[in-house]
Amino acid sequence: MIKIKRILITSALPYANGSLHLGHLCSTYLPADIFVRYHRLKGNDAIYVCATDEHGTPIEINAKKAGLKPEEFVKIYRKEHAKDFKDMGISFDIFYHTHSEENKKFASLFFKKAKEKGSVYTKKVELMYCPKCARYLPDRFLKGTCPKCSALDQYGDSCEKCGATYQTSDLTGAYCAICKTKPEKRTQDHYFFRLKQYEKDLKKWLTTNRRIQKDVKNYVLNWIKEGLKDWDITRTGPYFGFLIPGETNKYFYVWLDAPIGYISSTAKWAETHNKKWENYWLDKDTEIYHFIGKDIVYFHFLFWPALLMAANFSLPTNIPTRGYLTVEKDKMSKSRGTFILLRDYLDRFPPDYLRYYLTSVTSNNTTDVDFSYLDLQAKVNNDLSDTFGNLAHRVLTFTCSNFQSKIPTCARLNKKDKDFDKKIDILPQKVGTLIEKVELKKALEELMDFARECNRYFNSNEPWKTIKEDRDRTKTTLYLSLKAISQLSVLMEPFIPSISKDLQKTLNIKNPKWEKITVKAGAKINTPKPLITKITDDDIKEDPFSALDLRAAKILSLKDHPDAEKLYVIEITLGKEKRQLVAGLREHIKKEDLQGKNIVVIANLEYAKLRGIESQGMLLAADNGKDVAVLTAEGAKPGESVRAEGIPGKPAMKIKFSDFLKIEMTVTKTHQIAYKNSLLKTESGKPVSADISEGAKVR
Ligand code: MSP
Ligand code: ZN
Repeated sequence: MIKIKRILITSALPYANGSLHLGHLCSTYLPADIFVRYHRLKGNDAIYVCATDEHGTPIEINAKKAGLKPEEFVKIYRKEHAKDFKDMGISFDIFYHTHSEENKKFASLFFKKAKEKGSVYTKKVELMYCPKCARYLPDRFLKGTCPKCSALDQYGDSCEKCGATYQTSDLTGAYCAICKTKPEKRTQDHYFFRLKQYEKDLKKWLTTNRRIQKDVKNYVLNWIKEGLKDWDITRTGPYFGFLIPGETNKYFYVWLDAPIGYISSTAKWAETHNKKWENYWLDKDTEIYHFIGKDIVYFHFLFWPALLMAANFSLPTNIPTRGYLTVEKDKMSKSRGTFILLRDYLDRFPPDYLRYYLTSVTSNNTTDVDFSYLDLQAKVNNDLSDTFGNLAHRVLTFTCSNFQSKIPTCARLNKKDKDFDKKIDILPQKVGTLIEKVELKKALEELMDFARECNRYFNSNEPWKTIKEDRDRTKTTLYLSLKAISQLSVLMEPFIPSISKDLQKTLNIKNPKWEKITVKAGAKINTPKPLITKITDDDIKEDPFSALDLRAAKILSLKDHPDAEKLYVIEITLGKEKRQLVAGLREHIKKEDLQGKNIVVIANLEYAKLRGIESQGMLLAADNGKDVAVLTAEGAKPGESVRAEGIPGKPAMKIKFSDFLKIEMTVTKTHQIAYKNSLLKTESGKPVSADISEGAKVR
């Protein structure tokens, strides 16, 4: 009897503060999903738990900006994330949230237990306070000049220009990032968690645990060697979080209750499934896996196990940690448009293509991973389609047309057949061992190597020839080929679940198990449909919007065109460069209403002469058939580029007016400008808008 293992799998909880992108998927949600799907196929008691992470200052501030209560704001992302994950085939057993009664209860329990252990104390701290916003400012909400390289407008904790990290108090000319006011220092009593108390135990846990990956283990041990600092777990209101028991305006820092969300979500799941959460969190035989990206190592390898130790809960078995995803070698960045949302991908291609591709390029370590659509196309077409999809299709269609869609009986096995059969049989064990070590890329490579082997077996046996002279030989070839693709249909399921399910349906495989497969001669198969559609060059063509070079500009002066009564001649600045535009706005807008405005122009439009005067680009305006309004970018610096969120910017040298006309932008209800589903924003995040009715077209 094989012992059933109990396994709890979690993924880092996504913030309910923005949409999911490919990076999230690659490092965190996809590997965990592959892992849990494998264990379910093995028949283990494996659950996959996740939730939205809903607390903290950024969420509180963004909710306010959106004119919503934080409770309402996070619900929007809860729903969006749940849908994105579902469409990506991420198979959570529960997707809960951290702003829940259950989580509040567990957070208080942990706090109480830590206090009982003498791991909590209070201390006076000096904090930055913005008198205008009436709030304490966390690092990210303080800006100033870098004390090392004097770069302007750097965050309170580190400089993006020179990479230096420093204390907030070292910043020169510090100001509030929200309202630019100079902050004051204020003193507060804060609760601290005595992380130092756990140094020895953490070190012991890390050095004795044999699953944790080496690269991470080494640098965490280094942190311990350098000495750990106690952890400030308090935030003062306004804050979105849980009040600390006994306090009226002090909240738990989001990173205290976030990982506790793993437990409270398990408890919620258990409650509705007639199970006990204690079996997952207090039983030492249960294996616990947390999948994360490398930016949150400190929290998961130090704070979290220390909290678990304080409360006498089980420690993680492994914390698989992956690197960042870059897009075409660029760090994902909203302003550069090298930012691919999950939804943008899902609008274009099936989920399994991405699952296959990302797994095939992501190793079991913290090295960064690069995404490009060109690479995706190559992997999908050459591996997934040619090696796997075509193999299945050829074997199936041959069976349908020559054996009345029935699995033929295996007649006699020669040496080559026997070798091949053995390879089919040992595959589950071989690939399973790799998956259990979270070597998912290697596991997938093993499967694809096997698929190549199957192709060789099928081709070298030439069933299309032997069918005429040696029917028994053909039957054997087909029997084993069908067995091989049946085995593959199950073992590929964790990686590409929906394609695998399609294949299983054709093969009439009902309750797949991760074990040696048996196929019955005489069993019917269904008419196969192609499993994979290749990605064409057209499919991955850039969005035409990418070619535009849109910029914020400022109007310096205007005059009437001497020879055309509808035209203005406008002088603008693009920061580093002045230009002259000719625009047909005279009937619609008065000069004084345009003077000094921050507008948006196409900087790479072919220059054109309008009634004898050269227009060096074009300003954008919206038109509803009656009125005309220019597009404005309030607060933008002249020269800042303007992009549609999620669409990479790859401006062409010059674009033609006729190409611009193909790009449709419209005015939204909130007077912003939309291209397809994304809103126009400047590099620094300023929205572009037009003071005109909803639905007006930009031209
Ligand atoms: N809310 C915290 C996690 C709390 S866990 C108790 C958080 N949320 S996140 O939304 O910012 O990130 C979710 C996961 O995605 C994390 O594992 C994070 O490491 C990962 N990634 C976020 N951006 C990423 C990339 N650009 N590339 C790869 N992984 C990335 O962190
Ligand atoms: Zn302020």
